[in-house]
Amino acid sequence: MKLDQVLKRTFLCERLGVEYPIMQAGMGQVAYGRLAGAVSSAGGIGVIGSGYLTGDELRREIRIVRDITDRPFGVDILFAKVTGEDEDSRRYTRQVEDQIAVAIDERVPILISGLGNPLDVISECRETGILVGSVVGTVRHALRLANDGVDFLIASGHEGGGHVGRVGTISLVPAITAAVKVPVIAGGGLADGRGLLAALALGAQGVWMGTRFIASTEARGHENYKARLVAATDEDTVISRGHSGKTVRMLRNRFTDYWAANEDKLKPYPHQLQEVGTAASVLGRIEGDIENGVLPAGQSAALVHSVKPAASIIEDIICEAREAFGIFREAP
Ligand SMILES: Cc1cc2nc3c(=O)[nH]c(=O)nc-3n(C[C@H](O)[C@H](O)[C@H](O)COP(=O)(O)O)c2cc1C
Repeated sequence: MKLDQVLKRTFLCERLGVEYPIMQAGMGQVAYGRLAGAVSSAGGIGVIGSGYLTGDELRREIRIVRDITDRPFGVDILFAKVTGEDEDSRRYTRQVEDQIAVAIDERVPILISGLGNPLDVISECRETGILVGSVVGTVRHALRLANDGVDFLIASGHEGGGHVGRVGTISLVPAITAAVKVPVIAGGGLADGRGLLAALALGAQGVWMGTRFIASTEARGHENYKARLVAATDEDTVISRGHSGKTVRMLRNRFTDYWAANEDKLKPYPHQLQEVGTAASVLGRIEGDIENGVLPAGQSAALVHSVKPAASIIEDIICEAREAFGIFREAP
């Protein structure tokens, strides 16, 4: 069988009619409408990272995607529960509720929970024809969400950029595909065609790639951030709670060193994010201060060597996967 036939039979390609089972991961401040639209129009699935957006801003980004393409795309929302009764916690909860309401009102093709559990909206999404996926980092979390009725899971491992768990992708993906009946997409540390092929070999139905798409011309983000990512080696990322209070993988710099030395000053999620991470993210990702800002990136930064249009990245991934597939097919 040819690789293209294998890809066509995967869950996302069959269900949504997309060409390739390549999802560009939701990334706050980085993956907005322009990037998601470029990925979807190139045959993958672009995903808006709605993390920092108000409801109105999210609606604007959804419309930007729809101006670029009529192909399927997704919206990633952080569903994590915030229990505090203070004004900051209430504001955060309202913002997430607004994002969810807009995504459903706009009937986006795919809604993804990047953190937490989308249980409360699953039946409404099903009635509206919205596919629901959830990012998970353990078998326990995967079983709970599969049982709650999500349509697919994204198993994203320790190597990935942004919020991460403790289990590495290579063990996480087959453990989850064995444990649940719903389709699983693999993420965390995957940045090229060999990664796509490996994901399929591990039982996944496709890939969820973030870091590779930061280094795209359409990604929102300062050129210093993209250049720092391209220059990064496999040893240049660390896990820090300095951004949100939860564990986030990012490029090591003065910001991460400071929080490593001052753990006693950390606040719980989402207070650390509101009081430190949001401003530090704008500083790093948007204003380009690569020493003092937050620059999320996965270990796959070591596999990213240039900034390219998203369509070229998709093309590269497919060419690399075909090449790697050919090597296996020729083996005795
Ligand atoms: C810059 C950046 C921002 C991210 N922001 C979010 C986010 O807002 N919501 C979310 O669910 N995941 C977020 N993530 C995690 C990604 O969705 C994805 O799980 C991860 O990038 C996959 O690993 P990779 O970077 O090795 O491809 C972010 C990752 C990066 C690199």
